[in-house]
Amino acid sequence: MSDKKVIFSGVQPSGDITIGNYLGAIKNWVNLQDEYKCYYCIVDLHAITVPQVPKDLRRKSLELLAQYIAAGLDPEKNTMFIQSHVSAHAELSWVLNTITYMGQLNRMTQFKEKSQKNEANLNAGLFTYPVLMASDILLYKTDFVPVGEDQKQHLELARDLAERFNNKYSPTFTVPEPLISKVGARIMDLQEPTSKMSKSGEDDKGRILVLEDPDSIRRKIKRAVTDSLGVVKYSDDQPGIKNLLNIYSKFTGETIEEIEKKYEGEGYGKFKSDTAEVIVEGLRPIREKFDELMKNKDYLEEIYLDGAKRAEREARKMLSKVYRKVGFVKRKF
Ligand code: TYM
Repeated sequence: MSDKKVIFSGVQPSGDITIGNYLGAIKNWVNLQDEYKCYYCIVDLHAITVPQVPKDLRRKSLELLAQYIAAGLDPEKNTMFIQSHVSAHAELSWVLNTITYMGQLNRMTQFKEKSQKNEANLNAGLFTYPVLMASDILLYKTDFVPVGEDQKQHLELARDLAERFNNKYSPTFTVPEPLISKVGARIMDLQEPTSKMSKSGEDDKGRILVLEDPDSIRRKIKRAVTDSLGVVKYSDDQPGIKNLLNIYSKFTGETIEEIEKKYEGEGYGKFKSDTAEVIVEGLRPIREKFDELMKNKDYLEEIYLDGAKRAEREARKMLSKVYRKVGFVKRKF
């Protein structure tokens, strides 16, 4: 048996992924694959809590898998799978729903935000979304969950539910810890640098996609909102520049101080055009590998089927344990 600690994380195939998803999550996953036992999920069950076009959702799920691999996740080292292929996620979610308080879910900031945007489709799935996320995590005895900062509150709920279940029955779940990197945990919108860059927002000028073409990246960075102070400094008074510094630093590995120093006495023009090149070059290998992978759908299929098989084995074990503890009659067929 492996004594490696377990990692679980996921991305919704609800839109094309942005450099926010890449820098806040996926890029960090690549560094974990040797040391940990890693599960990376394409969370399609989560994606349908907001309206999706079925054929686009199918395509995006496959494209997301290709982007996981293109970003550097080795299919030999990581278990990559599609959430709806492992039914234990939905099943555990039901059990956890019964120990989740309405008040807790009401306090979730992401639910509040999303329900404002989706008033016409205020469905129960959107409300219980964090419970499904807790199930994802708890099924695999996950120790660490590498995510961007926006998922912190959901992680708290997962911890809380694990503890509540363990106390009510007996120790069953591992209580997971969030793994949030210092730089890049919250990439902001380029047009509105006080809100998070999002794959589903209306304004496409505010985000950069992982697969975006270089000229479009250059244009968007050039037009990114900054300020009139004219100094490249990491300061809350300069949210636009602060965001570009984070992006630059996360792509290159240079520290914020080093970058500030490099652009001392320079205006924003040079800093912005260099930032654009850093992004273009950072994404280039991903885009190239992605194009190659999408030509080989059989290979992608092999990976997600194999991933589902491996995940299923673990998930079933945990679900059976949970069913036994809550008092369900053992299924013998
Ligand atoms: P999702 O699909 O919104 O985002 C995927 C990952 O990207 C991170 N992220 C960001 N990081 C930095 N800056 C940003 N602007 C930014 N935008 C997104 C997110 O924090 C996340 O890590 N609920 C999750 C998906 C999920 C999940 C899970 C994650 C479902 N089950 C279990 C971990 C474990 C979500 O909506 O991610």
